[in-house]
Amino acid sequence: MRKKLLLFMMMGCALFSFKSEPKSTGKLDVEIETKITKLLTEMTIDEKMGQLNQFTSRWEMTGPAPQGNNEQQMLEMIKSGLVGSILNVTGAEATRKAQTLAVENSRLKIPMIFGYDVIHGYQTMFPIPLAEAASWEPELARQSSRVAAVESAAAGLHWTFAPMVDIARDARWGRIMEGSGEDPYLGSLFAAARVKGFQGDDLSANNTIAACVKHFAAYGFIESGRDYNTVDISESTLRNVVLPPFKAAADAGAVTFMNAFNEIGGTPATANAHLLRDILKGEWGFNGFVVSDWNSVGELLVHGVAADRKDAARLAITAGSDMDMEGNCYVPNLKTLVEEGIVDIKLVDDAVRRVLRVKFQLGLFDDPYKYCDENKEKTLILSRENLQVAREAARKSIVLLKNEKQLLPLKKEGQKIALIGELAADKDVPLGSWRAKAITGSAVSLLEGMQNAVSSPANLVYAKGPAFVVGESKFTVHLKFNTTDKSGIEEAVKVAKTADVVVLALGENCFQTGEGRSQTDIRMKGLQQELLEAVYAVNKNVVVVLMNGRPMDISWMAGNVPSIVEAWHLGSEAGNGIADVLFGDYNPAGKLPVSFPQTVGQVPIYYNHKSTGRPSDGEGNVFWSHYTDAPNSALFPFGYGLSYTTFTYSDLKISSSEMSKGGKLNVSVTVKNTGKVKGQEVVQLYIRDLVGSITRPVKELKAFDKIWLNPGESKVVSFELTENDLAFWGASNQFQAEPGDFQLWVGPNSVEGLKTTFKLK
Ligand code: BGC
Repeated sequence: MRKKLLLFMMMGCALFSFKSEPKSTGKLDVEIETKITKLLTEMTIDEKMGQLNQFTSRWEMTGPAPQGNNEQQMLEMIKSGLVGSILNVTGAEATRKAQTLAVENSRLKIPMIFGYDVIHGYQTMFPIPLAEAASWEPELARQSSRVAAVESAAAGLHWTFAPMVDIARDARWGRIMEGSGEDPYLGSLFAAARVKGFQGDDLSANNTIAACVKHFAAYGFIESGRDYNTVDISESTLRNVVLPPFKAAADAGAVTFMNAFNEIGGTPATANAHLLRDILKGEWGFNGFVVSDWNSVGELLVHGVAADRKDAARLAITAGSDMDMEGNCYVPNLKTLVEEGIVDIKLVDDAVRRVLRVKFQLGLFDDPYKYCDENKEKTLILSRENLQVAREAARKSIVLLKNEKQLLPLKKEGQKIALIGELAADKDVPLGSWRAKAITGSAVSLLEGMQNAVSSPANLVYAKGPAFVVGESKFTVHLKFNTTDKSGIEEAVKVAKTADVVVLALGENCFQTGEGRSQTDIRMKGLQQELLEAVYAVNKNVVVVLMNGRPMDISWMAGNVPSIVEAWHLGSEAGNGIADVLFGDYNPAGKLPVSFPQTVGQVPIYYNHKSTGRPSDGEGNVFWSHYTDAPNSALFPFGYGLSYTTFTYSDLKISSSEMSKGGKLNVSVTVKNTGKVKGQEVVQLYIRDLVGSITRPVKELKAFDKIWLNPGESKVVSFELTENDLAFWGASNQFQAEPGDFQLWVGPNSVEGLKTTFKLK
């Protein structure tokens, strides 16, 4: 209540003043702070505003066309010190040229910071982030982010707009592909790993770049899964579900954050002092800077909370948005707002200090061109080593959803394989959405990957099947799917008839997901279902390789086809990575980071839901929380994934049936490889807090371990639970574990597992 009042006061008062210096609990470098203080005394108000201003280059756009000035005007502004940052300028040569404009012409020679969306690779493409989370290996994400940073830095970039850490429960939302799925714990580990990968141990090194944690906050909770839509969530969902990955990223040292486009309960995130001042800069002591999203300051008008751009600038700077990305609101208005006494200069100084701090940390004041290195750009980008990491990442991100007749692994010889589907030969789709500088058509296709793997190429026959996406629509938001031209089905059926096994590549074009690409229907588009049924009618030995950026409704497929391999959009080495799995050179070990619904009508669906007062009785009886035409359960639950071997769980033990306050609990379980091949299992620990001051989820992931086991081998896997692991934001408005009874499971996914109970005293 007190916080709401504060927020209200900050937004409603005519005079906005900074009552006290912002709290900075992070470690500050005294030398840097002294330099900033000196610089601030030399800066005019115009130069200060300039540091808070970010424009996009006019060569590449990742949002609606810029307003207010043309390229020439922008160049003049750079020379006058009115542009602190540019996004979408890439390449050692281009960034050097741009930097020269600022450093050689502006009065104080303050270098610009160059940002870009390096979401899953710069030119060597890694699996889309959702896929990579299926590896349940944060270390893998650290490595791929490291490679992405090395490539980006060699191309003159200082700053990536990643990681995207939005928890997402809605498969309709196209941006679900950019994050780590539905779970705050898994999401936190991946958030921290990616920050560490981008930033390394030393931000001033010329192969590390600043991370930008986005979108702060709750963008994944937009109504109806429609991009940019409204969010209205409680403080408890914000604290317990949405914020943990942001906090983990801040704790991992992320130096910048980005606003979200959405409002939360009436206040757009860009004008949200509760998020930015109370939580991020206050409670968490974040001392980096916050950049708006693309024109999200300007959009405060459209949201209907600002009367004009000046008012929007007032709201955003007051709330704690430090840099205005392509909004053109700060530069024309901040000076007047300060002169009129509406915005306290201290607010501006604080924002400028934060921006300069990151520039100093990056070492840009020592050498503004340190990242522009044409030679490194040539040798480091798309290197063999980088592609090897990409192949490793690709195969580790694959999830085996079904393998009923043990059709997989395939044989490299002595087996006639029909490979069918346009996606199988596609060298572009696997690069995924948000592909930075990926070279169009540069991925290893599934066809190529399989050709590389088989011993006798004559045994692998390819048929394209019907066209999927038509014409040149591939690179636009509005993809056109072929629903009429059935030519190709006949040939596919012919090829399928004579094969021992059919591998069918189906799913989504990569531009069905990403920003602005929400869908109401998450089934396969075009003629893909028809192709699947036609092929299945003549050959039951079907392995579907699914390429997609979101959970899909694949109910028919799951009910009929014996083998399904979830292969997402896996990046540059996709085809090789998938072939590694298909032929058993790599035993798949991925687990879903997100629930797959049975039908879009179940969305949002997630494993860590609440009980309700009337949980389904499982019988479908009326007056219990259920659907009359579909089950409540997911088609494939969170944490689910198979292997070419099998595992059993036994001997779940806890060190005590009681945990004392401040105490610990040791949990152990024996996992055995009961199959014939070596394999990896992700052993997952979930809890349920049975009675809380507010309702608690029916299950929550609290720990996991990924272990290798030889055939017949057993291992005791141990976990340590502390009181901290049981804490949540409850009725007392703080993180606290509450005494009482808990259930605990250890198992292979979020619905199966051995169960025990304990009590927190
Ligand atoms: C997206 C951000 C992105 C920015 C810059 C916006 O439209 O929401 O995620 O970083 O554009 O490209």
